[in-house]
Amino acid sequence: MTEKTLVAPSILSADFANLGFAAKNAQDWGADWIHFDVMDGFFVDSITFGAAMCKALLPHTSLPIDAHLMVTNPMKHVEAFANAGASIITVHAEADMHLHRTLQKIRSLNVKCGVAINPASPVELIEPVIEECDLVLLMTVNPGAGGQKFIPSVLRKIERIRSMAENLGVFPYIEVDGGVNPETARLCREAGANVLVAGNAVFKAQSPKDAILMIRGDMSLNV
Ligand code: DX5
Ligand code: ZN
Repeated sequence: MTEKTLVAPSILSADFANLGFAAKNAQDWGADWIHFDVMDGFFVDSITFGAAMCKALLPHTSLPIDAHLMVTNPMKHVEAFANAGASIITVHAEADMHLHRTLQKIRSLNVKCGVAINPASPVELIEPVIEECDLVLLMTVNPGAGGQKFIPSVLRKIERIRSMAENLGVFPYIEVDGGVNPETARLCREAGANVLVAGNAVFKAQSPKDAILMIRGDMSLNV
């Protein structure tokens, strides 16, 4: 089966004083989506940026903004991100007491909805809602910071989510996030992921353009 792999550079690894420039650069380098990491200081320790920053990026890129909400009670925030122009809003299953309701709310706002799970959370956490999801995000590091090491046991979860979805006749995007570089990207693609988030591997690369091609699998590693 040929299926396009998408690359979503995370601007968490870019210069925070120039995020518009980072989003424009990512588009020029050939990215497919802009990954936008929202942290609230509760679900994870760090605080990053919110809906106003998401809106501020819109004049700088025409790529979809992939908002990853690492926040408690995400329902409180989804409307603000929809109004701020996010194309995809992903919430953590661990952070939401009423996940099904939140996903329906996101869809009612005409935005694609996603569910994320941490490395230690079982794929079964998503099973009851997978038919309501446009995207499943499997964290390949513990959320909260860029530049961490890829956790290989998540590869098994990619395969299991993929077959779980196929058995139910649904085909959400399967996204991975954390420690993705050209080598780990290949493992993720082979396991069945089709959206690859990469922060440091793109923004800190000597050639971000080549990094994106390699992560997508369009350029071999030993070029
Ligand atoms: C981690 C964030 C990631 C992060 C990935 O909590 O969700 O999106 O930016 O950064 P790298 O690719 O550097 O691990
Ligand atoms: Zn993320």
